[in-house]
Amino acid sequence: MPNLWTFCHAESDINLWITHMFRRYIDAAVFQTTYRHYLCIMSTANSQHYIDLENQFGAHNYHPLPVVLTKGEGVYVWDVEGKRYFDFLSAYSAVNQGHCHPKIIAALHAQSNRITLTSRAFHNDQLGPFEQYITSLLGYDRVLPMNTGVEGGETAIKLARKWGYTIKGIPQNQAKIVFASGNFWGRTIAAISTSQDPDSYGDFGPFVPGFEIVPYNDLEALDKAFQQGHVAAFMVEPIQGEAGVIVPDDDYLSGVRALCSKYNVLWIADEVQTGLGRTGKMLCTEHAGVKPDIVILGKALGGGVFPVSAVLANHEVMNVLHPGQHGSTFGGNPLACAVAMAALNVLVDEDLPANAEAMGQLFRERLRSINSPLVSTVRGKGLLNAIDIRPFGDGKTAYDVCLALKQNGLLAKQTHTHTIRFAPPLTIDREQIETAADIIANTILTIAK
Ligand SMILES: Cc1ncc(COP(=O)(O)O)c(C=O)c1O
Repeated sequence: MPNLWTFCHAESDINLWITHMFRRYIDAAVFQTTYRHYLCIMSTANSQHYIDLENQFGAHNYHPLPVVLTKGEGVYVWDVEGKRYFDFLSAYSAVNQGHCHPKIIAALHAQSNRITLTSRAFHNDQLGPFEQYITSLLGYDRVLPMNTGVEGGETAIKLARKWGYTIKGIPQNQAKIVFASGNFWGRTIAAISTSQDPDSYGDFGPFVPGFEIVPYNDLEALDKAFQQGHVAAFMVEPIQGEAGVIVPDDDYLSGVRALCSKYNVLWIADEVQTGLGRTGKMLCTEHAGVKPDIVILGKALGGGVFPVSAVLANHEVMNVLHPGQHGSTFGGNPLACAVAMAALNVLVDEDLPANAEAMGQLFRERLRSINSPLVSTVRGKGLLNAIDIRPFGDGKTAYDVCLALKQNGLLAKQTHTHTIRFAPPLTIDREQIETAADIIANTILTIAK
């Protein structure tokens, strides 16, 4: 039976419907006004409508795939037309636990009915338990909660500079932080000051001083940079996500640890994207059996429902900060803490790092078996994977493959021109991986024909 929304497409339909069905029971004038407004929204509720609104009223600082999502559950998302897709981006690894995980949503609801924000002017009863939980889970003395990943990076740099001056004895204002080429840690002025991507930094100068770049995955270059002195920290992603899922040599992270220890330089691991199970371990650095001095987490710490980031370190480093020297109105708020505890709990309870490891191996095997000249490389760890696509057709690129994947029911996003990152929620099971791999293989095999 057609419902109100499919039946009434025009104002005359609304009037007819109201006249016949409700005239005797309600105030038709009020009803008509309210529902005409609703119908106006519903009758135009297609993807293009929402895309047009964004184009007209939003800043043009993104270039999304043309799909408008309205619902998510587990590894699936649905668009406003009701089509279901595999989500192989997971909001850039912020949805490791799957969309709308019931335990995380329950924590959100329960806490939001009690208290959501206190500021750090007062204590709250969620912050301490969260701090205790995350530090014991990840093996650090202390944690500093913030909101977004880039704030985590800023926090780590402030910590390192202060440690450099007050503990290491670097002369004032001469501390250097070394970064790896191809790094991405956000879009603030400090973050783009270390970027080599002209889209990120172009026309946004002047930039923050005291930052140096060495090639990624190059221990010799790092050694040379450290020899110059006054280096407080080296900040690096264990696998570079935005650069295109660049996996360094097996000995790179242990080499970084050794050099940082040798030169008394803090190692900051940016695990905002790689952390929390994504690569098959709770922290990606665990693959190398080494421990950074400072770890930055974000994205999946909020379980896909709330921005939560955190910086972890031991006493020697974290104790350099004193009241008034760093903070954020929202950092450590009770809602974020309750959500983050639930998000961590789900990762542990469901052993999602182990699932990521197993499903990742299966997925890469399936990608490597695609017999197509379009695929030049398959790489990754756990469920952080990528393929490089050779240009095809008349100048077509990875973006065109993403459009075709969308058509076939799988959402993924290209990074740079030729790479597609595949990062589904870590809850994905064997059957879903096989189905998704079939979609990817069929799409690649048919697109160039
Ligand atoms: C490695 C890494 N660090 C930091 C960030 C910044 O996180 P946010 O966008 O939450 O500020 C990102 C975002 O993609 C990232 O991939």
